[in-house]
Amino acid sequence: MATRTRRTNGKAAPAASTAQAAPFARLRRTRASAGLRRLVRETELSVDSFIYPLFVTHGKNVRAPIAPMPGCYQLSVDNLRREVREIAGLGIPGVLLFGLPPRKDSEASGAYDDSGVVQEAIRAIKDAEPNLVVTTDVCLCEYTDHGHCGPVTGAGQVNNDASLELLARTALSHARAGADLVAPSAMMDGQVQAIRAALDADGFAMTPIMAYAAKYASSFFGPFRVAADSAPQFGDRRSYQMDPPNVREALREIEDDVAGGADIIMVKPALAYLDVIAAARSRFDLPLAAYNVSGEYAMVKAAAANGWIDERRAALEVLTAIRRAGAGILITYHAKDAARWLAE
Ligand code: PBG
Ligand code: ZN
Repeated sequence: MATRTRRTNGKAAPAASTAQAAPFARLRRTRASAGLRRLVRETELSVDSFIYPLFVTHGKNVRAPIAPMPGCYQLSVDNLRREVREIAGLGIPGVLLFGLPPRKDSEASGAYDDSGVVQEAIRAIKDAEPNLVVTTDVCLCEYTDHGHCGPVTGAGQVNNDASLELLARTALSHARAGADLVAPSAMMDGQVQAIRAALDADGFAMTPIMAYAAKYASSFFGPFRVAADSAPQFGDRRSYQMDPPNVREALREIEDDVAGGADIIMVKPALAYLDVIAAARSRFDLPLAAYNVSGEYAMVKAAAANGWIDERRAALEVLTAIRRAGAGILITYHAKDAARWLAE
């Protein structure tokens, strides 16, 4: 009988609150309704964080589906206008451009050709959507006939210092075409410093650099290499991209890019490197980007296509986790879908 302990017959009531003190916290209290969950939510996912990558190819009226990346296309410059209207219409602040040139050579000359595919794409996008932030990936692997991120010596080594000059020329050519932000991804030592110097010397002191500072030699780039036709023809990228087991080394990479003049730092890939994102966030005060790469996108798409996971929930969970780890900018192939889901 619940009332029995209260019949005290003049004696002091037993200290019921002590006897019944909960030995555990009831954390479920603030999960009990959608409203409470909203109020206690710690991480906000917003379209304001998104950058959507685009693959620009040579030719006319091309809209070629990329098999391992359902929903993504190689687009020719004439088809960009419609695409960027849609992107801007969804409220996405920026795009990241990759180029598929008509010809490749040992010196990657298509990368710094002032009338190359990316340069033409920049002009077309700035004309169609002047407020869309046009970021360019600055690398040489899509333009070299051997598919490495810099010129190769006779011994088959990627030549670091020879790459710097070509990367600087490429970034400068993008800035001249109207790029708002340049993003070197070759993982050559000194690339940020070289690009900063070239931009400053040519009147582009206000063009910021987003450094792919900690970029790992990752299996998750597989689908991208199909999309960008940039697979190395021999060897791999392990002599310049980072070794996946390392995190302290990532902080050294970032430190060096900050010293070289980076305005925004990036960790790539994102999902298998959340600890690296978190470490970068706690150590550095620059804006931090994370690249939710092609393989991460492909895994979600493939599992969803098989009915094994719910694509919308999985994609938003992944993006939220990357935000929670500390990234402020999310480069993601899910940007258009996520923008729609968040608007619902
Ligand atoms: C170019 C570059 C790559 C990616 C971005 N820039 C490929 C690579 O380094 O092999 C990968 C992006 C993705 O997988 O989505 N160096
Ligand atoms: Zn590259």
